[in-house]
Amino acid sequence: MKNKINKVKELALKEIGKAKDIAEIESLKVKYLGRKSELVNILRTLKDLSQDKRKEIGEAANKLREEIESGIRDQELEIRKLEFSNIEEKERIDVTYPGSVNQKGHLHPLTQVRYEIEEIFKLMGFLIVEDREVEDEFHNFDALNMPKDHPARDMQDTFWLKSGCVPRTHTSSVQIRFMENNKPPFRILVPGKVYRNENTDATHESNFHQVEGLIVAKSGKVTVAGAKSIIAEFMKGLFGEDTKIRLRPSYFPFVEPGFEFDASCPYCKGEGCRICKKTGWIELGGAGMVNQNVLVSVGLFEDEYEGFAFGFGTERMAMIKYGIDDIRLFHSGDLRFLEQF
Ligand code: DAH
Repeated sequence: MKNKINKVKELALKEIGKAKDIAEIESLKVKYLGRKSELVNILRTLKDLSQDKRKEIGEAANKLREEIESGIRDQELEIRKLEFSNIEEKERIDVTYPGSVNQKGHLHPLTQVRYEIEEIFKLMGFLIVEDREVEDEFHNFDALNMPKDHPARDMQDTFWLKSGCVPRTHTSSVQIRFMENNKPPFRILVPGKVYRNENTDATHESNFHQVEGLIVAKSGKVTVAGAKSIIAEFMKGLFGEDTKIRLRPSYFPFVEPGFEFDASCPYCKGEGCRICKKTGWIELGGAGMVNQNVLVSVGLFEDEYEGFAFGFGTERMAMIKYGIDDIRLFHSGDLRFLEQF
């Protein structure tokens, strides 16, 4: 029995001395002091021994327990000391190490251009107005002097909803919404999404953006000359100080007289190049004196007020500004494209 105790002691102390971490120490505690350990086994057999033997072996076994326990305590201390002596090395922080930088996003190019356009018009006293994207027929067409059988409706074919409403085909509908609730004089600028039943190609999308402008005041206060200078200021702000504009007679049901406005090509400065198809001019939008029928449709008396309206596509402005040749890039989600802005 004495022999066995010595063997256990030798083995235990040797193993304990080699333990390298606390987990190892814990399992050695179980192995040498736990319920299934040799030591407990020995203690269990004590009751079968003679009194003398029991005393002798009992004392030896208790001594063994103390030695194992103190061996474990010492080794544990040793391990902890080692851990802490290393801590500076292990947990060293290199403050000069370059950090991992989060990739920052930025506004979509169309949003950037939209904000830029808004800023220019705000400086000229325009109020930025937004309204619904799904419109009824009255606000999208009828009130804008486009009754049911008007051929101009063909140019703005769209997706009709079962309710008889349409995803608006232009932001001009907001002219009507605003005039129903506000008394002139005012100047508003209406950016927003519009929808058309278009076959998608490099210059057409079925979902795109427009900006509508509307100035209304007492008759005699609004002139084409004045409005033209506003458009000229806008074009200079967006494309550069040396930009010129011109109005060409055109037709839109909601204006009379109506125009299309062009800007001198910002690439060739009017010389003629690939972008402007050698004309020196780039077609940008529509404009005109608000047709009296439109003013009457919102309850204003004929000839009491006059207005000037204009509208253009946000994508088109961005494409000209940045030299983008395919409108589909905007909604492609392609980061190689987006990261250039
Ligand atoms: N609403 C027209 C369109 O989507 C654009 C437009 C043309 C707006 C002339 C106007 C305007 O206010 O006067 O094609």
